Amino acid sequence: MAVNLKGKSFLTLKDFSREELEQILFQGEKLKIEHYGGKDEPLLNGKSIAVIFEKPSTRTRVSFAVAIHELGGFPLVLETTNMQMKRGETVPDTARTLGRYVQGIVARVFAQKTLEELRDYSGVPVINALSDYSHPCQIMGDLLTIKEKKGKLEGLKFTYLGDGNNVANSILFGGSKFGMIVTIGGPSGFEPKSDVVEAAKKFAEKSGGSVLITNDPVEAVKNADIVYTDVWVSMGQEGGEEKKNVMLPYQVNRELLEHAKEDVIVMHCLPAHRGEEITDEVIDGPNSVVFDEAENRLHIQKAILSLLI
Ligand code: CP
Repeated sequence: MAVNLKGKSFLTLKDFSREELEQILFQGEKLKIEHYGGKDEPLLNGKSIAVIFEKPSTRTRVSFAVAIHELGGFPLVLETTNMQMKRGETVPDTARTLGRYVQGIVARVFAQKTLEELRDYSGVPVINALSDYSHPCQIMGDLLTIKEKKGKLEGLKFTYLGDGNNVANSILFGGSKFGMIVTIGGPSGFEPKSDVVEAAKKFAEKSGGSVLITNDPVEAVKNADIVYTDVWVSMGQEGGEEKKNVMLPYQVNRELLEHAKEDVIVMHCLPAHRGEEITDEVIDGPNSVVFDEAENRLHIQKAILSLLI
């Protein structure tokens, strides 16, 4: 039976049950088929959605704006640099104001707390378009892509290589809820935070999956069905050059990929720093699905918007 997600905010995958996440994936698959059949249903007809950015974005900005438009809504895309927040208006006051105008808020922010304040004070559903803690819409689009390519999620070895960042956190939450063998490979000192890992281990216990954090890139990639990476230095981070040196053994290149399954798929949330976390040969090679992955942001965001708002 379908679960009702109307009115809920989407801040982290940790807060959603497997059944709820399955419903979002199912809706994404359905809306993608309808889109290619030339009949996008106007599921957001007459609704205005604020899409706010504290940080740069290409995929998220465009896919949310197009998704809202194709569902019959109005995407109001805002940069915080052009809002009164830039001059010190508080997040609660901004949220209370926006809640009088729009039926939903999508926001890319630095701090997860900003999303929580937007949710608590606006009175409308808030969708996380990336924070320093998590990137849940990205990983839902990625799970949709994996399902399309592999026909299932459960039991697949899902390896992430690199920094234990917001993307890694969401892979841990999402993969562990779906019974995947989630493996994070990265250098000592750059592992995901222990509270995230512990939460993911609990989800894996329930789903029949597993979670491994390792500093050995070969162990991480061995027999992987999916190898995923992200930039080594996230937006706004300091100390880039030093960090890049310790990340070098985790570069997704042809030699390392030899340890994965022959039919491994290679994923990257993009934008990529080609020649750093991934080589041109791999990202442009036959195992790469990065642009299918980028496309699925559109379909999954339609699913999230239409189920929550
Ligand atoms: N993957 C992703 O969030 O891309 P953008 O930063 O371009 O939105």
